[in-house]
Amino acid sequence: MPYDQIESHLKGWDEVFVQRAWGRYPPEELVRFMGRRYAAVADKNTIRVLDIGCGPGANLWYLAREGYDIAGIDGSPTAIHQARERLNAEGLIGPERKADLQAGNFAHLPWSGGFFDAVIDIESISMNCCDVIADALSEAHRVLKPGGVFFAKMFGRETTGYAAKTEIEPGTMRDPEDGPCAGFGHVHFFSETELRERFSTFAELSLDWVKRSDLNEHWTVQEWLVTATK
Ligand SMILES: C[S@@+](CC[C@H](N)C(=O)[O-])C[C@H]1O[C@@H](n2cnc3c(N)ncnc32)[C@H](O)[C@@H]1O
Repeated sequence: MPYDQIESHLKGWDEVFVQRAWGRYPPEELVRFMGRRYAAVADKNTIRVLDIGCGPGANLWYLAREGYDIAGIDGSPTAIHQARERLNAEGLIGPERKADLQAGNFAHLPWSGGFFDAVIDIESISMNCCDVIADALSEAHRVLKPGGVFFAKMFGRETTGYAAKTEIEPGTMRDPEDGPCAGFGHVHFFSETELRERFSTFAELSLDWVKRSDLNEHWTVQEWLVTATK
């Protein structure tokens, strides 16, 4: 998706959140990652975490409940509104405890360099084309503190919906016909070689994956678990 299409892409996402309810809970891989990394930190409020493509706040809700200092950005103003309402309603933010939630394209982050201990991305960078992905990763790297960590779940090429013969650029499909990403516009499916190249600016990279079937084995869902240290 060239940059001139980003606005309509993000409007499409906004429509999704106007029309339907989104998942309310974080993936177990994020819970495991945060637990492993920060279990020993007594005051979680000293850890600043940014969720890029935070949607209506499933991950922010979990992070706020655990006590982390949270920030989020999403291209959908509706999603940001819903996230704020939920955190407010559950008393997780208020006059004494703020969350910095912003509507915007995460290819340009409105935070200064070296600000966050962790940046997370749960299946959001995947919903973009190569030019936005490159900028989003460079921005994630910029806003991390030295030694800070980026954690992501990103779709892999074994996922139903990826078909090399109809991709519009390497890894990117426009409107996959089937699979978990159908109906959400542009989707990028990552290969291991590509991930190793894209994260070469980070000091350390750890790659794992999860794969499962869905809908009585109608779909395969393969996701990379990316942990990259600045
Ligand atoms: C599959 S949803 C995931 C939402 C959330 N991470 C979760 O786990 O529930 C993808 C999200 O990424 C957002 N998004 C996609 N591309 C974006 C971009 N370039 N800038 C900001 N948000 C974007 C969409 O608006 C949507 O909320």
